[in-house]
Amino acid sequence: MATWSAPGKVFLFGEHAVVYGKPGIAMAIRPRVFVTVRKSRSAHHAKSPYIDNCFQEMGVRGSVYVNSQLPSSSGLGSSAAVTVATLSAINDEFGKKYRQEEIADMAFAIEKKVQKGRASPTDTTVSTFGGLVLITGTARRRLAPQNFHLVVGNSMVQHNTARMVELVAMMRKTNPQVCNPVLDAIGAISLSALHHMTDPQKLGELMNMNHALLEVLGVGHTQLSRLVLASRMAGAYGAKLTGAGGGGCMIAICPKHLKSKVAGAIESCDARAFSTTIDTEGARKEKDA
Ligand code: PMV
Repeated sequence: MATWSAPGKVFLFGEHAVVYGKPGIAMAIRPRVFVTVRKSRSAHHAKSPYIDNCFQEMGVRGSVYVNSQLPSSSGLGSSAAVTVATLSAINDEFGKKYRQEEIADMAFAIEKKVQKGRASPTDTTVSTFGGLVLITGTARRRLAPQNFHLVVGNSMVQHNTARMVELVAMMRKTNPQVCNPVLDAIGAISLSALHHMTDPQKLGELMNMNHALLEVLGVGHTQLSRLVLASRMAGAYGAKLTGAGGGGCMIAICPKHLKSKVAGAIESCDARAFSTTIDTEGARKEKDA
């Protein structure tokens, strides 16, 4: 029996634009997903296509138990965390000896397959290695960790990443003159953020710009906008949706002393909120229960 965990993630900047090779910045956050794999002759009974593909890719059979502290379908990378933790646990339980980089690549291939060809390696990279990561195309660069004070707001509106990615693809096809410069502008925001990683006020400003551009791409949601506005009014430096949009989560970057005020403002809009910070650890082995 082997138990591994992997962290969730937030996109600080660049979701959707990363699918088109533009730079994006994502960060591993607490909480984590825990997966236990055990050798067994009968196939596992998971309903998840991500888990099915992990076993298929590794060419083994086993049973699997998932304990997720991350809400699913909310933009916090739970599918990537499940995939990375499952592959890592299979690797360990079956003595496969794949390196971390290979696990990250395999997890990306699985996400891409399940999401019908459109996915960036962001979620799987961040979940495998932890910390703060700059993604450009298929290249990934780990950035120096920063201790931002973030509040995550869950709109409780379920979204479907594959559908939102498809929606942007359609928008781009029908309105290339508008959408392509917007995707470029989002990429420029990520690059600008790289120069201000120690300045939360400036990052907040850039998050506000990024949110507006995501709304232009059609991936906003009225409830997400409410949460973003409520956070800003409660004193956050800035706020934006995070992940695929159309529901799911938003993030607010705030001064430390205003974290609970911002979380309260979000919760007063019929949403759930929690404060979080960076998780510098990626996939890791846990003690067996
Ligand atoms: O909603 P999430 O956490 O699956 O994030 C999706 C982010 C996209 O940029 C829209 C897609 C991707 O694979 O990067």
